[in-house]
Amino acid sequence: MTIPTQPTLSFLRSELTSLQAYTPHPGGAAGESVQIEIDRVETNESPYDLPPALKQELAQMWIDEIESNRYPDGGHDGLKAAIARYVTESLSSDVSILPSQISVGNGSDELLRSILIATCIGGGGSILVAAPTFSMYGILAQTLGIPVVTVERSVVNFEVDLVAAQSAIEDTKNPPIRVVFMVHPNSPTGNALTTAELEWMRSLSSDILVVIDEAYFEFSQHTVVAELAEHPNWVVLRTFSKAFRLAAHRVGYAVGHPQLITTLEQVRLPYNLPSISLAAAELVLQHRQSLLATIAETMSERDRLSIVLTAIPSLQVWRSDANFIYARITGVANPELAMAELVIKLKSQGTSIRHTGGGLRISIGSPAENQRTGSRMTQLLT
Ligand SMILES: Cc1ncc(COP(=O)(O)O)c(C=O)c1O
Repeated sequence: MTIPTQPTLSFLRSELTSLQAYTPHPGGAAGESVQIEIDRVETNESPYDLPPALKQELAQMWIDEIESNRYPDGGHDGLKAAIARYVTESLSSDVSILPSQISVGNGSDELLRSILIATCIGGGGSILVAAPTFSMYGILAQTLGIPVVTVERSVVNFEVDLVAAQSAIEDTKNPPIRVVFMVHPNSPTGNALTTAELEWMRSLSSDILVVIDEAYFEFSQHTVVAELAEHPNWVVLRTFSKAFRLAAHRVGYAVGHPQLITTLEQVRLPYNLPSISLAAAELVLQHRQSLLATIAETMSERDRLSIVLTAIPSLQVWRSDANFIYARITGVANPELAMAELVIKLKSQGTSIRHTGGGLRISIGSPAENQRTGSRMTQLLT
């Protein structure tokens, strides 16, 4: 059968034809380039794989304990209990988080979608985002036919324009804003929530769900989890894809009010996580002390690379609370073009960074990778 090159599949929702899907590994996936080895500093992953002994332990669990012919544990009970303990331990207050406050997703991306299904789908609500931010909030909303209202951020510190955000909430009617996405720290700009942003979130009506995305919590050490009990309309999202080195396994979690969590559990797919990913997440939590010990290196490397990049006159570099740096080329006629060209040149030299949200997002890699990033950017921009 010959497939026409331009088929008209009229059963597809027309608004999806213009959807700009998320581009995984825009700089090219591992192994794409056979000529040169690429430093993949574009997706904010850990530069380090699990230690061989842990991979061995996981492989042994796969051999001894996981039955391939059986569905995974669809209730995630063991992992939820381990996450609840970890989240509780990482709080400086005496607040306790219970397993009934945890839902586990196939990456936090899945939880974002479950939240949208649980709140806004079918004309139930619009969402509010502040650009630049993590693109999946808007992409997932669009796939579900949910309107996205976008406000801006300050170019000084990337704080959300709270006046515009408040007006958007008051003025958006059909359908009203039901979910607000706050990111702590934000991607790609790297800034944690400010006191003013936190105050604004506290002032919001309980009819609005506030999603606080703490994907980079282990780096920033800033969290609002201790306040969840006072705000049943807040939910915190976290992931094992970054500091815990499990991006390949796709595990994220939500922490929130048990009633919200029950609804997220109702809307998710029954066996949303493979057995090996559930086992991997429990294993890294058991070994968290040694695995998270590399964060200190990442933080000092971030500060070192920031100094190198700040010394480039044409680059504006912002301070970061995460494992990446955000910068913009300034003083040229077309900064977007200059940044797009820089990304291509850097890639041809072996460093893949991300051009997003009107700037450059540079993940912190190993010391050798960061050294190469710094010297290649310096050489190309000066
Ligand atoms: C702010 C933010 N939230 C969520 C995610 C997605 O995490 P996961 O891998 O758990 O889907 C990312 C990934 O880059 C992110 O930057």
